Amino acid sequence: MTQFSGTSDVPDLGRRQFMNLLTFGTITGIAAGALYPIVKYFIPPSSGSGGGGVTAKDALGNDVIVSQFLSTHNAGDRTLAQGLKGDPTYMVITGEKTIESYGINAICTHLGCVVPWNANENKFMCPCHGSQYNSEGKVVRGPAPLSLALAHAQVTEDDKLVFSPWTETDFRTNEDPWWA
Ligand code: FES
Repeated sequence: MTQFSGTSDVPDLGRRQFMNLLTFGTITGIAAGALYPIVKYFIPPSSGSGGGGVTAKDALGNDVIVSQFLSTHNAGDRTLAQGLKGDPTYMVITGEKTIESYGINAICTHLGCVVPWNANENKFMCPCHGSQYNSEGKVVRGPAPLSLALAHAQVTEDDKLVFSPWTETDFRTNEDPWWA
């Protein structure tokens, strides 16, 4: 008896379910539409650079918005972002206040400390054992045996920065990249 007391609700339920389906379908459609440019956006840097591009992220894990970033930083700044494989990687601001086309991996080639940028000295100076690197990350004082690794840094049309693997000659040493 009570089982059937809800029969009058059946058409309503049916309609509600239909509406839910419709709403879900609409949302799914919107989501797919919204996702498409995102998916599309991730493909070119990956395929264009031989794979493995990542969007630079700030300390909070948000994508770096290049125009915002440039408006709050000075020419010559080197600022850490999360780069390839999650490695701390410096975004370099040029003298013309654009983003340099390479990023500098901040991991010391001696024993792996994160090397801070020292603007006064115009060098990266490792606090662990005193290694130093010039403003491009080339090693100028040991015990670090090698220069800091490079990554390509490319500003995208939607105002973000993509790091991708650097596999070409290291322009600082004219040698093959030791990290590739
Ligand atoms: Fe940087 Fe040793 S880890 S000098």
